[in-house]
Amino acid sequence: MKKLIARVKQRRKNWEVCLRNMDLKRKKAFTKLLLEWHRNENHRVMPWKGIRDPYRIWLAETILQQTRVEQGWAYYERFVQAFPTLADLAVAPEEHIFRLWQGLGYYNRCRNLLHTARELVSHHGGLFPRSYEQLLTLKGIGPYTAAAIASFAFDLPHAVVDGNVLRVLSRYFGWEQPIDTSEGKRLYSSLANELISRESPGAYNQAIMDLGATICRPRVPLCGQCPLARCCKAFEQGKAEQLPVKVSRRTIRQRYFHYLVIWYEDRIVLQRRENKDIWRGLYEFPLLEADAPGGAELLHHAAWKNLLPDEDWILKSISDRQQQLTHQRIYARFFAVETSRPPAVLAHQILVHRHQLTLYAFPGIIIQYLRDGQGRLF
Ligand code: ADE
Repeated sequence: MKKLIARVKQRRKNWEVCLRNMDLKRKKAFTKLLLEWHRNENHRVMPWKGIRDPYRIWLAETILQQTRVEQGWAYYERFVQAFPTLADLAVAPEEHIFRLWQGLGYYNRCRNLLHTARELVSHHGGLFPRSYEQLLTLKGIGPYTAAAIASFAFDLPHAVVDGNVLRVLSRYFGWEQPIDTSEGKRLYSSLANELISRESPGAYNQAIMDLGATICRPRVPLCGQCPLARCCKAFEQGKAEQLPVKVSRRTIRQRYFHYLVIWYEDRIVLQRRENKDIWRGLYEFPLLEADAPGGAELLHHAAWKNLLPDEDWILKSISDRQQQLTHQRIYARFFAVETSRPPAVLAHQILVHRHQLTLYAFPGIIIQYLRDGQGRLF
């Protein structure tokens, strides 16, 4: 009996060693095949690709967080044109930067961009620190952006880990660990840092992102064209489309915004969002938020009494728009009203001529409204 147990234990050990060796081979093949593909077949062109200037890399990577490459491209070019150097960005007024950022969402990125540009100019001699750990101390620079700057600009072996990378790794190694738990994130990040090429960390990081975006795509992966397919576990087991695994089911908060679009001659009332909430720093119309959609009775709400005091106004239209954010769905109802008397704006409100609207940055839902004719503008 003892002998039998010892034999079973030995077999299990052999099997583990065998698996470890297979894994080691698979890992070595991964980096080699990926870099070969990058050198010979990766023809993806993007304006930030191959650059070594940490400022432009930081700009590109900040724009590309939660943003598709196709959308981020034009923003990157506009930013580089308006602020060719870190020093140019550091002295720019916040309003100018917000205006250029308009439509990209996640405005904290934009606020942090300015904060960090100023911080670098005033406390770091206008230079980016040359270590991953020091990059991480800067506002808005997390592990992903720090790894991108460290590897692209300074040739340091820090692996980027984003959605593309997680998908490629989970499929290639056939890992079923969910990518959105802290344990999963730790495991994938440690695997990524084991795999990164020590000789060409920047090329490796760019290659894995490009492979994820063009071949190992989320919904319809092009396994037939994949340079890694012959060693890919998910391909071998026919489960590429089931990976990666996620556990989270996001809860989406529903919010009902009611906007008063009050026109006096060719002028309109705007206010800046100041609270710690979405869209801080952007402009909008006077707002009433409620737990459910409201009707024209809201026009008599106490909060709008200063703008709509008595009968000197008429309601011209009511129209609805929606905007999906990561954790919120915004249902906006716009009440367009014309008044024959100048509205009594409060301290935080301004009366702006329609031709001046392009000077302000607005949330996407307001831009939609202003653009599509209902608002007669833009
Ligand atoms: N997404 C984020 N950063 C990227 C990069 N450098 N290249 C391609 N896609 C990206």
